[in-house]
Amino acid sequence: MPIIIVNQSRYIRHWVDTLKAKRPDLDVRVYPDAGAPEEIEFALAWNHPLGAFQEFPNLKCIASTGAGVDHILRDPDLPAQVQITRIVDENLTHDMATFVTALVLNHVRDLDGYKEAQRERTWAQKRYLRTQDLGIGVMGLGVLGSYTALQLRKLGFRVQGWAKSPKVLEDIGTYAGPEELDAFLASSRILVCLLPLTPETANILNKETFQKLPKDAFIINVARGEHLVEQDLIEMLDDGHLSGASLDVFREEPLPENHPFWSHPRINVTPHIASVTNPESAVEQILENYDRLQKKEPLLNVVSRTKGY
Ligand code: GLV
Repeated sequence: MPIIIVNQSRYIRHWVDTLKAKRPDLDVRVYPDAGAPEEIEFALAWNHPLGAFQEFPNLKCIASTGAGVDHILRDPDLPAQVQITRIVDENLTHDMATFVTALVLNHVRDLDGYKEAQRERTWAQKRYLRTQDLGIGVMGLGVLGSYTALQLRKLGFRVQGWAKSPKVLEDIGTYAGPEELDAFLASSRILVCLLPLTPETANILNKETFQKLPKDAFIINVARGEHLVEQDLIEMLDDGHLSGASLDVFREEPLPENHPFWSHPRINVTPHIASVTNPESAVEQILENYDRLQKKEPLLNVVSRTKGY
């Protein structure tokens, strides 16, 4: 049974080489060179051309090469019978937590401000907040969100989380559903978005949400660009309610050269690198599911198509 890689943007060669290194006899194909379409049952996907999967009448599994599956589910022509899986990987989880921690600490200790002062040869000591003085709110308490929240808690921050349904996490206050969103926002001085992108969470980082945060709140979006209403962020930064934002994901990626985020003094831009799947580390679970599919066993890390994660 072949594996087909359907990927418009990411590391195709790396995936082919890694799969081949693990299983030299594996028949790895790269879309659009699919060979006989009826032979294809297992696809590895990232940002596929919409409608592409309709070409494979016997397709049974689409495996996302990342943690998110929104790039698959946005396809209106997804075959109904196909199971969708995602990557759940310790390295991916750890990398996300360390990246968010870096952004949080960079903000709290104003390292960018000191870099600027250095450029001007200015010795200016500023007062700073301690970790325990700051409430961090993590939106999304799935694998990435809950681990990140726990790591921030270990550093001494007051951490709280918000999710669609109630979650219990040690030493972390949790809130659930739209009815508890306002209470969660009111004490989130730093707001971290790690939500899955679904119709319910799209545009959740908007003016109304921002207004419910304490003054000088700081926004970190490491989930998806579509969570953020871009103009609302700029307005709330410019009117002084928000103190800044670190954004790793954007509605359009790469971020267009003329986009106002690039030059905004209080926005930090990184190019969707918070946590990137390393094929070496994720290949085992892909092959495990490939084997399971052949043996007609239940697959790992299957996502719910109705929930969207
Ligand atoms: C990255 O954005 C992922 O979903 O893994």
